[in-house]
Amino acid sequence: MVAKRGLGSAPVRGRRVLVRVDFNVPLTPAGQVADDRRIVESLPTLNHLRAAGARTILLSHLGRPNGRHDPRFTLRPVAHRLSALLGQPVPMADDPGSVKAIEMTARLENGQFLLLENLRFHPGEEANDPTFAAQIARLGELFVEDAFGTVHRAHASTVGVPQRLPSCAGLLVEREVRELSRLVDAPERPYAVVVGGAKVADKLPLLESLLGRADRLLIGGALSFPFLAARGAQLGGTAVEAGLETEVAAFFAKAKDAGTDVVLPEDLTIERPGTNEPSVHAIEAVPADGLARDIGPRTRARFIESLDGTRTVFWNGPLGLAEDPRFAEGTRAVLGHLAEIAGYHVGAGGDSARVAQELGVANGFQFISTGGGAALEFVQGLELPGLAVLPDA
Ligand code: 3PG
Repeated sequence: MVAKRGLGSAPVRGRRVLVRVDFNVPLTPAGQVADDRRIVESLPTLNHLRAAGARTILLSHLGRPNGRHDPRFTLRPVAHRLSALLGQPVPMADDPGSVKAIEMTARLENGQFLLLENLRFHPGEEANDPTFAAQIARLGELFVEDAFGTVHRAHASTVGVPQRLPSCAGLLVEREVRELSRLVDAPERPYAVVVGGAKVADKLPLLESLLGRADRLLIGGALSFPFLAARGAQLGGTAVEAGLETEVAAFFAKAKDAGTDVVLPEDLTIERPGTNEPSVHAIEAVPADGLARDIGPRTRARFIESLDGTRTVFWNGPLGLAEDPRFAEGTRAVLGHLAEIAGYHVGAGGDSARVAQELGVANGFQFISTGGGAALEFVQGLELPGLAVLPDA
């Protein structure tokens, strides 16, 4: 990966600096920030700009309000949390195209911040509409891309604005690119990838692109079900994502020649209606009413053994329904093993940081990306529009 121009010595004192951050954070039902990791991870860049005397205007989206103003997706709770973290008020402006927004940005003093309301309240954001991008761009004099989680989107705030202003990468984006590049540019071998979670159709391209790139590919969670079904496993009443038979067959055909060892579950921890106590069954013998919820103990041991001796591990998604303690053991045991073995271990994907923290095994990772889809695309070696648009270092 080519390094991008960084914030380093950019002259920012007294200048209006637009910073694209990824404040797309989970909210509680009461509308408070449930997990502030992405906000916290933006602080190095924000503190740098404050100390350097910039007038910082923050740009973000939250959720998918589909181009309409929807109060459920307001960034107000984020502004509140950010104010507490920065120890100073972070006022908000509603519409980047409004006279009020222009006035508010013009009144900013050195070291102050302003947060624009959710950009996805405007259809122009996701459409990368030139008029909308120009409205945002005229609020600032310099653009800093620090929303690693969103650099795979070609939107107004990630592509249209940097096309119109001098731009550079923020400290978080620089760090993400540096760390994740270790998985793409000659990873230390053996290189293993552990992938779980659901959304099989979304993750199939990732799995395919890893064939030949990774030495071992361990597949767990609901992601493994269509692969197990294709191998003739009986998964009882478990919901298996349908319509993927052709892709899965193509994957197995490619895997044969690729030299990647694909490791699938051999047994599963099963939930049965009417009983609270899970049971363990081989993949050929899941009872008709059984629902697969986690990998079983034999699979745990097999996964752990497959990770021994590796030098690089990339992890994406839990191996079972880890939010239920009855079905968290597979994820806990395999992730916990990472803490005990040497090597460079990276986690990515919406839930990885939270799950690892809740299970007390976050020390298994040397780095946890703030990106979900962006990190997955990065490790596939794909070009990400929000990075491609930035000038090289
Ligand atoms: C994410 O959470 O992965 C990013 O914020 C991007 O969100 P999106 O998938 O809605 O574009």
